Amino acid sequence: MLTLNQLDKVYKTGTFGTSDLHAVRQVSLDVQRGEVVSLIGESGSGKSTIGKMVLHLLDSTGGTITFDGRDVTKLGFRARRDYYRKVQGVFQDPFSSFNPIYKVDRTFETLRQSYFPKVSGGEWRSRLEDALAAVTLEPDDILGKYPHQLSGGQLQRLLIARALLLDIELLVADEVISMLDASTRIDVLNLLGELKGRGLGILFVTHDLSLGNYVSDRVVILYKGRVVERGDTSAVFDDPLHPYTRDLLASVPHLDRTWEEVEAEEAERTRRLAGRCLYHEAAAAQGRSLGEEAASAEGSAPGEVPDGVGLVEYAPGHFVGCFRKAAEAPCPAA
Ligand SMILES: Nc1ncnc2c1ncn2[C@@H]1O[C@H](COP(=O)(O)OP(=O)(O)OP(=O)(O)O)[C@@H](O)[C@H]1O
Ligand SMILES: [Mg+2]
Repeated sequence: MLTLNQLDKVYKTGTFGTSDLHAVRQVSLDVQRGEVVSLIGESGSGKSTIGKMVLHLLDSTGGTITFDGRDVTKLGFRARRDYYRKVQGVFQDPFSSFNPIYKVDRTFETLRQSYFPKVSGGEWRSRLEDALAAVTLEPDDILGKYPHQLSGGQLQRLLIARALLLDIELLVADEVISMLDASTRIDVLNLLGELKGRGLGILFVTHDLSLGNYVSDRVVILYKGRVVERGDTSAVFDDPLHPYTRDLLASVPHLDRTWEEVEAEEAERTRRLAGRCLYHEAAAAQGRSLGEEAASAEGSAPGEVPDGVGLVEYAPGHFVGCFRKAAEAPCPAA
């Protein structure tokens, strides 16, 4: 349904926009109907930038985004409205998604006028009440208020209610759980599960590994704007291949294992992988010539693993990038 291919984003920064900040580097991933794909990475790894490009709130600087085969990187006004009927987002900072001078009921009335002009006021009110009930909000507590009079968690749930009303096909959920307390959190997670059951695709953005593990069918691990590993959630969590994924997983407390067990397991992996890069090994086994790929990628010296080219299918459906991670952990094979 949604496919990102070699998506890139360079921000212009500095006083005169003279410096480049390469926030997203040749990211490829896809989300199908009825599945949750988690985009996991630490703060600043480019998750929200990707989400915003999918939602057409930011222009990409390279690559394509297609939705049902159609390129959505360049949409005209009408096409954009059709797109938003199918694709919506819920953000980390929900306040920015609301018009601060409109009370909530007016915001929803605008939604009716834009998307469902034929639906009567009474019918709309009952749909709205159903949608609010689904996100455990009381209409009377909410509708007559301005956004600043509501909590972050309430605003996030309102955005989900909005998505429900539009009956969308893809939801970009960017740290949606972050503002919710424990009991609401589980309600919203269950709601997302229900939406998935109805065939909705969800791109779930999070820095929280356990949440990613809990909700998703597949995960994409992002490091400094680049995908370093992706695959079925169980494959990635049970057998993390990339050193960065392993570091991430090793840093989460495990309820079912002692610290010593985790340490021993990690030491064993490190020993097994010493001096190896699974990306290079798999590519060689598949007969791919990295030198040629590198030479064809702009700005890369022959023999060097270029950005974005570096993902190979190490095991069925389980992709890994080059172990070159950062200066402190160079790829042993590069
Ligand atoms: N509008 C902008 N202009 C310039 N740089 C930006 C802009 N928005 C984000 N960045 C930079 O791009 C990089 C990626 O930011 P992004 O918000 O996508 O990260 P993130 O993974 O969502 O992080 P977090 O988990 O903290 O939300 C960061 O270095 C950030 O400082
Ligand atoms: Mg973010």
